[in-house]
Amino acid sequence: MTQTTSLTIIRPDDWHLHLRDGAMLEGVLPHSAAHFARAIIMPNLVPPVVTGAHAAAYRDRILAALPAGMSFEPLMTLYLTEATDPDDVEAAHASGLVKAVKLYPAGATTNSQSGVKDFGKVQAVLERMAGIGLPLCVHGEVTASDIDIFDREAVFIERVLDPLRRRVPELKVVMEHVTTEDAVQYVAADTSSRLGATVTTHHLIINRNHILAGGIRPHYYCLPVAKREKHRLALRAAATGGDGRFFLGTDSAPHTDPAKLSECGCAGCFTAPNTMGLLAHVFEEEGALDRLEGFASRQGPAFYGLPVNTQTMTLVKQDHPVSHPAKIETGAGPVTVFDPGFEVFWQVQG
Ligand code: NCD
Ligand code: ZN
Repeated sequence: MTQTTSLTIIRPDDWHLHLRDGAMLEGVLPHSAAHFARAIIMPNLVPPVVTGAHAAAYRDRILAALPAGMSFEPLMTLYLTEATDPDDVEAAHASGLVKAVKLYPAGATTNSQSGVKDFGKVQAVLERMAGIGLPLCVHGEVTASDIDIFDREAVFIERVLDPLRRRVPELKVVMEHVTTEDAVQYVAADTSSRLGATVTTHHLIINRNHILAGGIRPHYYCLPVAKREKHRLALRAAATGGDGRFFLGTDSAPHTDPAKLSECGCAGCFTAPNTMGLLAHVFEEEGALDRLEGFASRQGPAFYGLPVNTQTMTLVKQDHPVSHPAKIETGAGPVTVFDPGFEVFWQVQG
């Protein structure tokens, strides 16, 4: 059998991305725009992107930060709060600006203080979203201090997500950055065709040992935190298995090195520059290179009801390991690029 050394796929999209704002936005945006045609842009700025007017202004700042000659379409989201106005959400969706609403349980992750505590208060918004077909993207972790951090996703499904979906059965839901076999099974068992899940690149590569064994490695700390190996294997099977409900959301989440390497370090892995090469590596390991296009370029648009991209991307397998800068410099400070800990030979043809 001859080895595949080149793979051309429909240009991918990133269905979960943190671009931040200001100097950080300027520093990281070119890395996503170099490979991805579109991305679902997370709204957890300080202050968060709550209204249609906020989302329009943020979209303009993203487009203004895009280097000349690059094309990239930011798919905007609204940050759900207990005060979110259903009419504002509907108008932002009707204008084509907003493609999803993001639910952060209060306190779950970076900048989630304004998230939802009392789900009764968002029932009317969720019903409106169900009526207009606007998906809810969910950060699926409970925040109760008595729940072990490694159990927070599984407990969220049982205590929050499943009851929420029963209360609003017509609502389309994306379980963002799934990290457990429990979440994979919950999504796979669904028969409504209204439930999907994004999978990050780094959760296909690291388990919790990478963070904690042999010394603490802050650059592998993200939320939801990586779990034990059996969960990583379940994620690999889901991502590479051809099931259309699982698609790529990198959750590339830049923080400066001082913010990561601190007594209370921030959560997030910055994977935008090397995600596509890493995915080709993972899919090849799983004997599923032919399914990379589905995962990165077809299944996300299908779930969101958007057309696939018309351009293509070619990945080439080099005969020597590809080198990436260990960090990028931004106006906000240096940001370390995710290090998979193994040699990678796949590279996007530039
Ligand atoms: C994200 C961030 O830094 O904004 N961090 C992360 O670890 N993924 C927030 C998030 O998606 O939870
Ligand atoms: Zn995220």
